[in-house]
Amino acid sequence: MVLSVVTYPNDVLRQKSKPVETPFKNEIKELIFDMLETMDDNGNALGLAAPQIGKSLQLCIVKFEGKTHILINPQIKNKSWKKEIGEEGCLSFPGKFLTIKRPNKVTITALDKDGAPFKIKASGLLARALQHEIDHLEGILFIDRTDKK
Ligand code: NI
Repeated sequence: MVLSVVTYPNDVLRQKSKPVETPFKNEIKELIFDMLETMDDNGNALGLAAPQIGKSLQLCIVKFEGKTHILINPQIKNKSWKKEIGEEGCLSFPGKFLTIKRPNKVTITALDKDGAPFKIKASGLLARALQHEIDHLEGILFIDRTDKK
């Protein structure tokens, strides 16, 4: 089921989301499925975080170069000192694009859709997308990361 995307300003986008309890309930699996459908429906969006569909849960998805990364209860374990500037958009800010400086490499740990822990080392655009989505889980938005508002 395609879900409607919450746009700014909406309180849920500013909430710190709750960890997903393990073992995952069926509703979490359904939510992941619905989020994937919602991304497809939004022009194959690069990323979507649960608060953006009104669920204050630590769950986000990034689709990049044909690979779907589903991250539950993610934690950024390491960020590179080196930063990179790049343009970002966000489904919660239709039509808005901002130039944001972020670490160009990150190491993240999370649980996959089956609850198994994994680690991902990412750089470039994938690292950027992952950081953008994990920010959503903390109630941080890309407008907070730019100098230009
Ligand atoms: Ni976003």
